[in-house]
Amino acid sequence: MFFKSPRRRDAFANTRDARATRILAITALTQYPLRMSFERHEKTLLIRPEFLNHAGSVFGGYMMKWADDMAFNAATLTFPGASFVTKLFGQIDFIKPIQAGDIIKVCGQVISRGNTSCKVQVWSFNAMTNEKVFDTFAIMVNVRNGQKLPLPPEAGQTPAPSLKDQSAVTAMLDRD
Ligand SMILES: CC(C)(COP(=O)(O)OP(=O)(O)OC[C@H]1O[C@@H](n2cnc3c(N)ncnc32)[C@H](O)[C@@H]1OP(=O)(O)O)[C@@H](O)C(=O)NCCC(=O)NCCS
Repeated sequence: MFFKSPRRRDAFANTRDARATRILAITALTQYPLRMSFERHEKTLLIRPEFLNHAGSVFGGYMMKWADDMAFNAATLTFPGASFVTKLFGQIDFIKPIQAGDIIKVCGQVISRGNTSCKVQVWSFNAMTNEKVFDTFAIMVNVRNGQKLPLPPEAGQTPAPSLKDQSAVTAMLDRD
C-alpha cells in the first residue's frame, strides 16, 4: 500500500529496522493502538456472616455491588481519565452458593471497547477450591456532565497521532 513496486516493498520488509518501523506505522495509522487483551483486575474477599441471606449463602445484592465496583475499577484502570457510569449488566449468573467463611476472588477485565463504552467481564471464584461461583458482564459508558464522551487513551498508551502526523508517516514510508 505504501510502496511503488513489490521489489521495494520486499527490500523494506526484510530489514530489522523496517519491521520496527512498520509496527510504529501501523499503530500510528490506526485509530486505536493494536492490543490483544486488557489487564485483569481482582480483589479478595472474606465472606462474613453479615453478607448472608436467610438461606445462609451470600445475599445476591452484595455480590452485585461487588461486581459493579469491580466493573468500575477495571474500566477506570484501563481507561484512566474516563468517568464511567454503569449502563447495563448482562445476564447475572449466581453459579454456586457462597458460604460464610469462604474466601472469594472477584475479577474484572475489559474484553472490548467501543467509542464511548467498554464491556467488562466480571466473575468470581472460590479462592480455595478455584470453583467459579458468579459470572456477568457490564457495559460502562464514559459520561461527563450528563454527556457521553469518547473513551480516553488506554493506560500506558499515548493518544493516536493527529491526521497531520499520520500523513508524515505515510510520506516517510513512501520515500526511496
Ligand atoms: C449512560 C447513558 C448516558 C447512555 O446514554 P444513551 O443515550 O442511552 O447511550 P447509547 O444508547 O448511545 O449507548 C451508549 C454506549 O453504550 C453502548 N450500549 C448501549 N446499550 C448497549 C447494549 N444493550 N449492549 C451493548 N452496548 C450498549 C452503546 O453502544 C454506546 O457505546 P459506544 O459509543 O461505545 O458505541 C444514559 O443511559 C445514562 O445516563 N444512564 C444512567 C447511568 C447511571 O445512572 N448508572 C448507574 C449509576 S453508575
